[in-house]
Amino acid sequence: MRAIVLLCMLHAAFGMDEFDWVDPFSSSETASNPCYLDQQSCGCCVMQQQLNRMEEYFNLSYEGMHHVLTESKMALNNFRDSRSAFSVALNSNARMVCFGPFPGDRLIPFKNVFINLGDSYSTDTGIFTAPRSGVYSLAVTVYSDIDSLINPMAACANLIVNGHAVAILPEHKGDDPEDSSTVVVAVGLKAGDQVGVLLPAGCVICDNLSHFNTFTGFLLHTTDS
Ligand SMILES: *[C@@H]1O[C@H](CO)[C@@H](O)[C@H](O)[C@H]1NC(C)=O
Ligand SMILES: *[C@@H]1O[C@H](CO)[C@@H](O)[C@H](O)[C@H]1NC(C)=O
Repeated sequence: MRAIVLLCMLHAAFGMDEFDWVDPFSSSETASNPCYLDQQSCGCCVMQQQLNRMEEYFNLSYEGMHHVLTESKMALNNFRDSRSAFSVALNSNARMVCFGPFPGDRLIPFKNVFINLGDSYSTDTGIFTAPRSGVYSLAVTVYSDIDSLINPMAACANLIVNGHAVAILPEHKGDDPEDSSTVVVAVGLKAGDQVGVLLPAGCVICDNLSHFNTFTGFLLHTTDS
């Protein structure tokens, strides 16, 4: 008797095999049912059933948590892949160098890169191409000074998306020796939309290592999922 109980307990403790005894409460074959023959093994058998149920429950909980963890990891990777930020300045010259004025409109090629996460800003064209649909923060600051002997001084520019002006920096008539203006906007962009800063005809901006002219954008959150 003791040996049977001990074996049974070991069996339950290690949980190596599936429980395959007859359910003591559903079987009508009383003669062959060990529960009716041996009350102690019956208690053990019920215990093992409970253990099995608990194990099933924990297995299910584990699978559920594993699923949630996998999904969270995927979401996090997706978020990491979608990171996008750029910040550039006109140049990094030791002496003051101006861009403009020109007889026609020109895109400003900001050459000094502070950061270009995702490589979506091109120093060749001055254009930022939105890598994903989402809400982006965009900021432009332009600057001109009278020491650059530009007449008339006009630190003006347009923030453009796909060729259309989103915001205008209108400093056309400056009577003081320096002019600067800034715009910051949050806009919804579609993947592939092109953002740049246009220097309208007659406008001029000047910069050196002080980085008075900057163009910055970053993705606040995506909207494509
Ligand atoms: C619980 O999971 C383990 C490991 O996957 C498995 O060996 C065991 O049979 C499962 N138990 C139950 C009761 O489903
Ligand atoms: C850039 O030019 C301005 C105006 O001439 C000057 O005050 C400033 O010191 C210059 N910056 C650097 C880093 O040389």
